[in-house]
Amino acid sequence: MLIILLGPPGAGKGTQADRIVKNFNLAYISTGDILRKAVKEESALGRKAREYMDQGQLVPDNLVVEIVRERLVEPDCANGALLDGFPRTVDQAVFLEKVLPETKATIDRVLLIEVEENELIERLTGRRVCCDCGANYHVKYKSPKVRNVCDQCGGDLYQRDDDSLATVTERLEVYKKQTEPLIKFYQERDLLYTIDGNKDIEDVYEQINDVLKEL
Ligand code: AP5
Repeated sequence: MLIILLGPPGAGKGTQADRIVKNFNLAYISTGDILRKAVKEESALGRKAREYMDQGQLVPDNLVVEIVRERLVEPDCANGALLDGFPRTVDQAVFLEKVLPETKATIDRVLLIEVEENELIERLTGRRVCCDCGANYHVKYKSPKVRNVCDQCGGDLYQRDDDSLATVTERLEVYKKQTEPLIKFYQERDLLYTIDGNKDIEDVYEQINDVLKEL
C-alpha cells in the first residue's frame, strides 16, 4: 500500500504524516527530511542538494528518484509507506509508476492538502523545528511549552533556512509551475482526494482518516 501526500509547502503534510504513519502503521518517506539529513551530514548528495534547497528550487529529478527507489525496498516498507513530498514533478510520478512493480506496492490514495496562500506564508515563516528529533512547531499555532525547547526531547528549536519570506515565495512559485500538474495526473488515474487544509490540525486529520479508513 502506498499513500501520497501532495500539497504546497506549508500545507501541513509533515504534521499530518506523523499521525498517519502511527495510526495506519506505515513507513514514512519524506524526501525533504532525507535531503536535509544529507545536507547536515555534508555527504556528496547533501552538497549537491543544498544549492537548490537554499534557493527554494527543486533538487534535480535524477538525484531524488534514486533515493526513493532505494528507500521503497527497505524492509519497513513491506507493510506500506507514506510518501511525503514525492513525487513533485510529472517525471517523478512517471518514474514511480515504473518502479512500483519492483516493490509490489500500488498507489492507493493521493491526498491533496489545499491551503490558501496567505495562510501558507504565515505557517512557513512561523514554523520552528527541533534540531534533534525534527518535531514541528509554530510560533502561533503550535507553540512548545517552554520557548524554543522541544516538548518531546528537550532539543533546541530552529528556523529552517528555506523558511525565510523570500525563499518561501520562491517555493510557492515552484510548486505552482512544477508540482501542480500532478493534480491532473492523479485525477486522471482516479486516485486524488482533496482535503481542506485550512482547518485546524485535528479537523484536517479527521478528513484524512475518513479517506484512509476505507482501505
Ligand atoms: P520539504 O521538506 O518536502 O518541504 P515542503 O514540501 O516545501 O513542505 P514543508 O515541509 O515546508 O511543509 P509541510 O506541508 O510539511 O508543512 P508542515 O506540516 O511542516 O522539501 C524541502 C525542499 O527539499 C524542497 O524545497 C526541495 O528543494 C527539496 N525536495 C524535497 N522533495 C523533493 C523532491 N521530490 N524533488 C525535488 N526536490 C525535493 O506545517 C508547516 C507549519 O504549519 C508548521 O509550523 C505546523 O505546525 C503548522 N501547521 C500545520 N498544519 C496546520 C494547521 N492545520 N493549522 C495551523 N498550523 C498548521
